[in-house]
Amino acid sequence: MDNHTAPEIQRDVLANIIGDGSPQAFRNFFASSSDLMSCYRCAIMEIETKFRVLDERFSLVHDRNPIDTIQSRLKKPQSIYEKLVRKNLPITMESVENNLFDVAGVRVVCSFVDDIYMLADCLLQQDDITLIKKKDYIQHPKENGYRSLHLIVEVPIFLQNEKKLMKVEVQLRTIAMEFWANLEHQLRYKKELSPQIIAQTSARLQECAHLSSVLDTQMQDIRDIIENA
Ligand code: GTP
Ligand code: MG
Repeated sequence: MDNHTAPEIQRDVLANIIGDGSPQAFRNFFASSSDLMSCYRCAIMEIETKFRVLDERFSLVHDRNPIDTIQSRLKKPQSIYEKLVRKNLPITMESVENNLFDVAGVRVVCSFVDDIYMLADCLLQQDDITLIKKKDYIQHPKENGYRSLHLIVEVPIFLQNEKKLMKVEVQLRTIAMEFWANLEHQLRYKKELSPQIIAQTSARLQECAHLSSVLDTQMQDIRDIIENA
């Protein structure tokens, strides 16, 4: 090894490990992420299937579907990289697996609030699922009014010669919660707003969140009356 190339190689290896924010560091990260990204896609498929099965079995007995829609998303390598840099975490695939729990996301939109808890309980009862973390923003809404049930779960995926445990973020919410969250997200990421406008709109967004929770309660009551008739 000559004196000229040794420091070059070292710099390259170092950049790959710690990430220096350079385009090269990101390219190295991107190139080494494809295997792990594929594993996360498999984990998403497993979780989606579990919810589809639950929906199918529930509809057989109750003659209605508790799930309105299922949406999944995989965090892009660019966003993963940025989050690692932002949180001062090592820029390695091992670090992604150990520190970031929202690389794979599955959102389950339900008709009624009690369907959310029923589906979450059914998922967590399954003997291949491990609950890592639960945040109940329905019982305890965020200050801005955001409601949803968040679960971080670990699910096994079976590859050619190995079983791998993957973390998936599951968000369960009603159609009303989804409506509010989508619009709030759209508005929040618009332009630079003055503190006055923020204060004014925050209060109204909170009010809308409250209205959406009233809507959820009313719809569930109406359903109960009809089902018990
Ligand atoms: P980060 O993903 O690092 O922000 O993690 P966290 O621990 O703060 O996660 P949390 O469970 O509170 O929220 C994760 C996800 O829930 C976000 O990526 C959004 O999809 C959704 N979410 C949380 N809060 C809000 C909110 O106030 N408005 C909207 N529209 N979505 C939210
Ligand atoms: Mg997130």
